[in-house]
Amino acid sequence: MIVTDAVRAYIEQTSPVPDGLLAEMRERGVRDGVPILDSQAASLLHVLARAVGARRIVEVGTAIGYSTLHLARALPDDGELISFEIDRERHAAAQSYFARARLAARVDLRLQDATEGLRTLTAAFDLAFLDGLKAEYADQLDQIVPLLRPGGLVAVDNILMSGAVAEGRPVAEGRPVDGWSSERIATARAFNEHFVNHPDLIATLTPVGDGIALAVRR
Ligand SMILES: C[S@@+](CC[C@H](N)C(=O)[O-])C[C@H]1O[C@@H](n2cnc3c(N)ncnc32)[C@H](O)[C@@H]1O
Repeated sequence: MIVTDAVRAYIEQTSPVPDGLLAEMRERGVRDGVPILDSQAASLLHVLARAVGARRIVEVGTAIGYSTLHLARALPDDGELISFEIDRERHAAAQSYFARARLAARVDLRLQDATEGLRTLTAAFDLAFLDGLKAEYADQLDQIVPLLRPGGLVAVDNILMSGAVAEGRPVAEGRPVDGWSSERIATARAFNEHFVNHPDLIATLTPVGDGIALAVRR
């Protein structure tokens, strides 16, 4: 946890109760060990998609579609969301959730490596969300920035890795942090520096969820 337990509990208690489908997806994520977005970060993405008036969105890393559903619900009826996932089972689960959400028409779920898929896209997108393999963030950001319209938004998840990125080692607040090796933390730090200094972006790092980097294209 990056914020204190009390802050987190307060925000959770104050937030509206998620609908049945989102709650089911979250339970499935926990049960099957699928890493899905923090609920506050997902709400933030939804608000930001509405704030930029998003009509076209691209996402890297659908998993079972939890973040995708938050984004899709922010789109107008004729909006479009393209989301890439390489895991066949997760992609299939996302498809079934979108059928149940009756939003399959505005969501193009692609079972494809995102680095390949991004090459086939044409501008302009209003919002991009990067949430795939962390080692691929830098290359995928370079692919995505030219696809964004000026003023378009890019969001990137897990940029603080449970706080370990701030420590610069697989420890946060004195406790070991599972899953984040020193090498991955070094890659994340390099990416964050690249992101905030990107000449085409106006960027900031936030401690929402597991850390979300946000930027708009100049
Ligand atoms: C953290 S999960 C995504 C969670 C999802 N965005 C959510 O919040 O509900 C990352 C997903 O990215 C997928 N992934 C990793 N590298 C990828 C790539 N190069 N192309 C497409 N999907 C990728 C993984 O299979 C995994 O399901």
